[in-house]
Amino acid sequence: MAQSLQPFHTFSLPSQCPQISVITDNRQLQQQSFSLPFCILGEGSNTVFLNDYQGVVIKMATTGITVTQRVHDYLLEIAAGENWHQLVAYTLKQGMPGLENLALIPGTVGAAPVQNIGAYGVELAKFVEYVEYFDIASKQFIRLSAEQCEFGYRDSIFKHGLKNKAVITKVAFALPQLWQPELSYGPLQQLEQVTPQAVFEQVIKTRNSKLPDPYVLANAGSFFKNPIIANALLNELLLVYPQLPHYYYDGEHHKVAAGWLIEQAGLKGHRIAGIEVHQQQALVLVNHGNSRGSDLVTMVKYIQQQVWQRYQIKLQHEVRLINGDAEYLINLEEPA
Ligand code: FAD
Ligand code: EPU
Repeated sequence: MAQSLQPFHTFSLPSQCPQISVITDNRQLQQQSFSLPFCILGEGSNTVFLNDYQGVVIKMATTGITVTQRVHDYLLEIAAGENWHQLVAYTLKQGMPGLENLALIPGTVGAAPVQNIGAYGVELAKFVEYVEYFDIASKQFIRLSAEQCEFGYRDSIFKHGLKNKAVITKVAFALPQLWQPELSYGPLQQLEQVTPQAVFEQVIKTRNSKLPDPYVLANAGSFFKNPIIANALLNELLLVYPQLPHYYYDGEHHKVAAGWLIEQAGLKGHRIAGIEVHQQQALVLVNHGNSRGSDLVTMVKYIQQQVWQRYQIKLQHEVRLINGDAEYLINLEEPA
């Protein structure tokens, strides 16, 4: 019997699938059929089902936390289905700080390496000791070092070479016993007393002031990645838009704030059916209901076109869109 996917992804579009297979023990993976199409899912906070999905959804719900104290750090080995924010809160309570800048990011531990989650000056990659995955072809469990994961900005090997080939089963983190706060992000510099708990609370406060709670107002976080552009284009843009927020990326590139580009293009509050560019954060699209996947696709294309026309920048969506039986990438068709 068909099952609704609406509660299984935070953007919450109406969609159904023939089967949801919930994995609570990694041994189930040995028996699981991986004939295409299948879709691996955590808490669905970076995945949107645009319409009915025609394959099996494999939801990772394994639990388990192991902590080993080593000479200079704590080694944490965490099952894929554990909730990310609860893990961050747990580490602070146990006196093992380090992850506090990544507080309140929705989703599972297993999904976190896929796009190398990041916020407020910290990326997951900084703490990864290894990622263990179930190799679908060989049915073996394999470990990758952080370097082998090929982490980048919102990127990893799990989006490329290992896409549809690996189910992440465990993530191991090394948290140094000597805590070094990361305070480069504006609101964190205003802290009077710098403690892990204070950073944790400030991150939560900042996030709550602009990012809508997906369980109150459906959304999938930043819909687009912050674009990385050549210095030459940045310099041209700064002549016209001196306020454009930009951050050093490498010698030839800067990252620019997509939320600013979208807001300055006048798109805050723009609405198609129940899909709206969020009033507090233009990088977030929200779903008020009564919307279909086609409305979202129209919105994404419209934003991409407007941003291209104004700034000659191509926005890429960060959110993984599932259309029918496969992932769907919306790439801007350049106007002639
Ligand atoms: P899902 O959406 O279920 O899956 C995401 C992708 O990973 C899918 O392609 C899926 O196939 C794959 N996947 C999931 N689990 C596994 C597994 N075990 N093995 C292999 N592949 C798997 N992200 C940030 O980086 N920084 C932020 O600050 C941030 N803020 C957010 C705020 C809000 C309000 C929301 C809704 C989202 C935000 N996100 C942020 C995005 C999201 O929280 C992360 O991408 C998170 O890691 C997704 O976890 P999930 O379990 O919900 O993943
Ligand atoms: N801005 C605007 N208008 C907006 C939104 C942003 O002018 O509507 C400006 C802000 O004033 C600021 C700059 O853009 O100068 C950056 O904004 P913000 O600090 O809110 O962060 P962001 O770049 O929009 C990124 C991540 C978030 C992450 C935050 C904090 C991406 C795609 N998004 O957002 O991650 O939480 O930084 O580090 O990199 C996510 O990936 O889902 C996500 C929420």
